[in-house]
Amino acid sequence: MKLSIIGAALALSTGVLAHPEKLTEASAAHHHTTRSTNACAAQIEARAEATALRRRERLSQRSAEKRNIYPTIQNSTCVLAPETVWGPYGIDGELYRHDVRENQAGIDLYLDIGVIDVETCEPLPDAYLTIWSCNATGSYSGYTGIDPDTADLLDGYTKSTQGTTDNETFLRGITKTDEQGMSEFLTIFPGYYVSRTTHIHVTVQTNVTSRDETSYNSASGGVQHLGQLFFPEDLINSVYALAPYSQHLATLNRTTNAEDSLYASASADGYSAVVSTALLGETLAEGLVGYITIGVNRSAEAATTTGGSVNPQGFLPTASPAAGAQENAYAVDRAEGYVDK
Ligand SMILES: *[C@@H]1O[C@H](CO)[C@@H](O)[C@H](O)[C@H]1NC(C)=O
Ligand SMILES: *[C@@H]1O[C@H](CO)[C@@H](O)[C@H](O)[C@H]1NC(C)=O
Ligand SMILES: *[C@@H]1O[C@H](CO)[C@@H](O)[C@H](O)[C@H]1NC(C)=O
Ligand SMILES: *[C@@H]1O[C@H](CO)[C@@H](O)[C@H](O)[C@H]1NC(C)=O
Ligand SMILES: *[C@@H]1O[C@H](CO)[C@@H](O)[C@H](O)[C@H]1NC(C)=O
Ligand SMILES: *[C@@H]1O[C@H](CO)[C@@H](O)[C@H](O)[C@H]1NC(C)=O
Repeated sequence: MKLSIIGAALALSTGVLAHPEKLTEASAAHHHTTRSTNACAAQIEARAEATALRRRERLSQRSAEKRNIYPTIQNSTCVLAPETVWGPYGIDGELYRHDVRENQAGIDLYLDIGVIDVETCEPLPDAYLTIWSCNATGSYSGYTGIDPDTADLLDGYTKSTQGTTDNETFLRGITKTDEQGMSEFLTIFPGYYVSRTTHIHVTVQTNVTSRDETSYNSASGGVQHLGQLFFPEDLINSVYALAPYSQHLATLNRTTNAEDSLYASASADGYSAVVSTALLGETLAEGLVGYITIGVNRSAEAATTTGGSVNPQGFLPTASPAAGAQENAYAVDRAEGYVDK
């Protein structure tokens, strides 16, 4: 199978939208401190040649071997360093798994994330990654009662005391890096909602001592990275030309990367929070593979999960997945060839 890089397409520009997410620029700026990864550039670059070869080999085996496309840290995108914010849709204590798609329609995205320790410039094993994103038409699990076009509570829904509207778990999950500092999620390319460009939220939690310690409030580890991953404009427009994404354009024009304030802060100081992507097959519908490196500083102060800047509620709700949901998630992963726990 040939690896085709996404071709350029027209960048559809839309008007600026109101309703900025309730996130403070001050809190985003606060996290810019002490997360420098520039010092690791040489070490990452040194790995590039060998890993590029292995990457091509793995991609050519892709259809037979549906996991871990990038076996080691790459330098095909820049290191993601500046910190962003939780946003209103974070939830603590998600399911531990690779495949977070559940029943959500959309284009498959194998999201390979490499984590490096910015103090040693070495890959960081056993780093716990959490991702969450909206579905193809802009809804987040746990908050499906929120209108993606206005961010208001829909008629017929009430919020529970911890702020969620439901116990759905789609497009959220936790996994950890292997001995090469690599991890992979299987998700769908995200949709969009009011006032924000297309993104996937990500956290990295280090110092976790046990696989079951998947709570941010755990005493065993702090959240050393809190970020958002973005995508190129031409790719976003190509995806949204396809169903089911395209149906959302009838009710909400998307916010572009250039219009999104958090995109700018996540891309500050020459860093890039844009995922490097390639087609898995000949067409977009056959799926995408994305790669990004995240640099974390284990010595830096951990991000907080309570307080005014966390989200509009001032604390992260804790998930209550249905009974058996974790076992089902493991079964789905095993069936797809993912073996790590
Ligand atoms: C990645 O590689 C590019 C081109 O080889 C180089 O300019 C850049 O500095 C590297 N970035 C990092 C973070 O290693
Ligand atoms: C996204 O989730 C919402 C809420 O559950 C649902 O109504 C909608 O159909 C979903 N979108 C797609 C494309 O499945
Ligand atoms: C989620 O499930 C828990 C436990 O069953 C329940 O107490 C809670 O009310 C549910 N939350 C919502 C928003 O449905
Ligand atoms: C994580 O471990 C590092 C290295 O042992 C230590 O310096 C740091 O304080 C720890 N961080 C947290 C949040 O426990
Ligand atoms: C999207 O933007 C176009 C061009 O400005 C406008 O004609 C259209 O009404 C907008 N659609 C929605 C759903 O707001
Ligand atoms: C990591 O964080 C510590 C504590 O804030 C800081 O002293 C150190 O310079 C940081 N290291 C890097 C490489 O950013």
